[in-house]
Amino acid sequence: MNVLLIGDGGREHALAWKLKQSPLLDTLYCAPGNAGIGQIATCIPLDTDHAAVARFCKDKSIGLVVIGPEAPLVAGLADDLEAAGIQVFGPSKAAAQLEGSKGFTKDLCAAHNIPTASYARFSNAREARAHVQSHTLPLVIKADGLAAGKGVIIASTAAEALQGIEACFSGAFGAAGAEVVIEEFLSGEEASFFALVDGATALPLATAQDHKRAFDNDRGPNTGGMGAYSPAPIMTPELCARVMDEIVSPTVKAMAAAGTPFKGVLYAGLMIENGAPKLIEYNVRFGDPETQVLMLRLKSDLLPALLAVANGDLGGIALDWHADPALCVVMAAKGYPGAYERGSEIKGLDAAGSDPDVAIFHAGTKREGARILADGGRVLGVSARGQDIEQARDRAYAAVNKIDWPDGFCRRDIAWRAVAWR
Ligand code: AMP
Ligand code: GLY
Repeated sequence: MNVLLIGDGGREHALAWKLKQSPLLDTLYCAPGNAGIGQIATCIPLDTDHAAVARFCKDKSIGLVVIGPEAPLVAGLADDLEAAGIQVFGPSKAAAQLEGSKGFTKDLCAAHNIPTASYARFSNAREARAHVQSHTLPLVIKADGLAAGKGVIIASTAAEALQGIEACFSGAFGAAGAEVVIEEFLSGEEASFFALVDGATALPLATAQDHKRAFDNDRGPNTGGMGAYSPAPIMTPELCARVMDEIVSPTVKAMAAAGTPFKGVLYAGLMIENGAPKLIEYNVRFGDPETQVLMLRLKSDLLPALLAVANGDLGGIALDWHADPALCVVMAAKGYPGAYERGSEIKGLDAAGSDPDVAIFHAGTKREGARILADGGRVLGVSARGQDIEQARDRAYAAVNKIDWPDGFCRRDIAWRAVAWR
C-alpha cells in the first residue's frame, strides 16, 4: 500500500520511521516533509489546496493519508479527501473541534460530566473583565481557537488576567482570540494520554509526559515541548482505566451521538491531583515530541492500526509495547521560542545516530547539497530507549553530545520527574 503523510515536524519523522518498518507499505510519501523524512520517504511540496492533495492521491494510488498536524484537520482536509473516496487517518472538521475550539470541548465536558476545570465563555472583553473581578485568582485565560500553543495565559494577578483578555480581543492570536475561555487554575502533575478511536471504539496507547518550558528546572517561556518520555510513571494502570472511563469513553460516545464521530488519535492533556484525573484540553492528533517516544516503544506494526481507525474496525487490533522506557531531547535553535535564525549547519548526525538504541528525528531541517541546515525553532528530537529511564537518558545525551551545532541548545534535565520517581 502507498501512504501519504501530511506534515513536516519531528512527529511526522517519527511516524514515517515507524510506518517505514511495515511489511504492508509500498511507497511512503510525505508532504512537505523535512531533511530527515527525505532520507526514508519521497517528499513532495503539496500545498494546502485539498483538491490538489486528492489529485495526488489518485495519481499515486494512495491507500491511506495520515494527517499529522491540527491545522489541516480543523480546515477539513479529512472530509474533502473522504468525499473523494480516499481513506484517511484523522478526524473530520466537525470532530476536530475538540482541539479547534476550547469552548466546544468545555461545553461537551459540562454536558457529559467529564472532569475538567470550571469555566466560562466570552465573546466580548467587558463581560470577561467582569468575570475576573468576581473570581479567585489565579485564572487561566485562553483564546478559543488554534493559536500554535501560544493562546494560554496563566494569570496570578488581576492585571495579568486583564492584559490576557485584552491580548485575545485585540487580535494578538488572530481569529483564535475572537472568543475567550476563562478557567479555574488546576494544580497537580500533568501527563499526556493517547487513544486511537475509530468513531466508536477507543484503544489506549502508551502514556507520556513532556516538558513545556524552554529551560532546565522548568523555567523560561512555554514552548511546543522541549522533550518527552514514556511511560509517565504517574499514570498507573488504575489511573489509565479511570481516564478511559471518565474522560475518553464519554467523549467518544458523545461525539458519535452528536453525529460527528471522532476518528483518529485523541490526545488528552491531563492534570492529576490526589490521584484523580482532570482534562486540561484535547488535541486531535499525535503529540510532538510525545510521538517520538511512543514510536520508539511501539513493537507492533503501526499501519494496520491506523487503517483500522480509518475503516472503523479497531476492535480487532491489539498493540504490543516495549516495556523499556524511551526519552526524547529536543534540540532547538538559540532564541526559540522567541526569534531565531535559520540556516546554520548541523554536523555529526551520522555519528550521533550510530547507536542502534538511538533515533534522531528531524523537526525543522532542510538539506542543501550534502549539508543539513537548521530550518525551524525546534530542529531535532534526539531519542533513545533503555532498560530504565536513566539508561535511555544517558544514551540520548551521549548522542546529543556528538552533534556539532553551535547555534542550537537543549535542556539537560529531560525526564527529571521520572528519574526522581523511585
Ligand atoms: P493548553 O494549550 O490548553 O494545553 O494549555 C497549555 C498549558 O497551560 C497546559 O499544558 C498547562 O500547563 C497549562 N494550563 C492550561 N489550562 C490550565 C488550567 N486550567 N490550570 C492549570 N494549568 C493550565
Ligand atoms: N507536546 C505538546 C503538543 O504536541 O501539543
